[in-house]
Amino acid sequence: MNRNEIEEIISNLGEVSKSVKGKNILVTGGTGFLGSWICEVLVEQEAKVICLDNLVSGLKSNISSMMDRDNFKFVQHDITKPIFFDEQIDVVMHLASRASPFEFEKYPIQILKANTLGIWVALGIAKKHEARFLYTSTSEIYGDAKEIPTTEEYRGNVNPIGPRSCYDEAKRCGESYVMAYKLQHGLDIRIARIFNTYGPRMRAEGVYGRVIPRFIEQALSNNPITIFGDGSQTRSFCYVTDQIEGLLKLAFSERAEGEVVNIGSDKEITVLELAKLVNDFTNSSSKIEFYPLPKDDPPRRKPDISKAKRLLDWEPKVELKEGLKRMIEWFKK
Ligand SMILES: NC(=O)c1ccc[n+]([C@@H]2O[C@H](COP(=O)([O-])OP(=O)(O)OC[C@H]3O[C@@H](n4cnc5c(N)ncnc54)[C@H](O)[C@@H]3O)[C@@H](O)[C@H]2O)c1
Repeated sequence: MNRNEIEEIISNLGEVSKSVKGKNILVTGGTGFLGSWICEVLVEQEAKVICLDNLVSGLKSNISSMMDRDNFKFVQHDITKPIFFDEQIDVVMHLASRASPFEFEKYPIQILKANTLGIWVALGIAKKHEARFLYTSTSEIYGDAKEIPTTEEYRGNVNPIGPRSCYDEAKRCGESYVMAYKLQHGLDIRIARIFNTYGPRMRAEGVYGRVIPRFIEQALSNNPITIFGDGSQTRSFCYVTDQIEGLLKLAFSERAEGEVVNIGSDKEITVLELAKLVNDFTNSSSKIEFYPLPKDDPPRRKPDISKAKRLLDWEPKVELKEGLKRMIEWFKK
């Protein structure tokens, strides 16, 4: 990543940017991929940021550039355990949760806890401080969607006892918690349903990691590119600067109170086409190898983003080819 990208996000925020300045904002999961980008944009906009993280999948190096800023504080804490803050908090952004498919198998209980006990603690903080609350939910709550492109009205097709259920059912429960706090305590809430996002700071995590960093790492080292299934499954990939702009617009737009919004790209690509693109852009001699498709892997994923366009005046701007080039450059460094 580079400074220009932070400035790109801030300039795209437009008017919303004004409501960030001077606010006290708690970001849970703030040392992770998306959380650290959010912290960086908020710190640049002169918000006072508390970054809370237990570092299970985040990295201190992601926040090292902010550690000496007066308006940034890091608190190492597991959000599933109670915590109290003396200072006022105006906005809680709850991102804390492992999010990678390989972690669904290895750490299912941690993932369930972060999106049930963890969100309960985070919502309690918002209630006490009368703060606004943003939850980062996921496209996974739609499961194997039968409505493509998928709108926010679609109710999902999820296997409650499948290998992904620790994540998708936990996120569904998290959404339910958020709606309960709105109903019972009148909390100002917003739910982002994030579709596949990629960019600098995303970890490669080996063969079972998230697809774009995995392909880039494999291609740059001329190792085989591993595809699960025949590669005909599709995904729609959103570059991180677009995603962060969407999340911040949802969190800070006055008219987004109580809303649930898909944030992601609606440009679909097959996983095989993606592998070929990464191979081309890295000038790699990697071969493509095919492995059995994991159980419950959805064959298509593509959001309907008309609500985000209408409500937030947001749509993705960075084309996949451009985003891949930026990410490959970052990986090389
Ligand atoms: N990146 C995507 O494409 C994507 C897609 C859909 C949803 N999301 C959601 O966005 C959020 C951030 O995802 P990410 O891609 O940045 O993942 P990430 O793994 O990079 O970041 C998650 C952060 O949460 C922290 N964390 C986990 N459990 C915690 C706990 N109990 N207490 C405190 N901190 C804890 C981790 O240490 C890490 O820093 C997650 O909630 C994820 O479900 C991401």
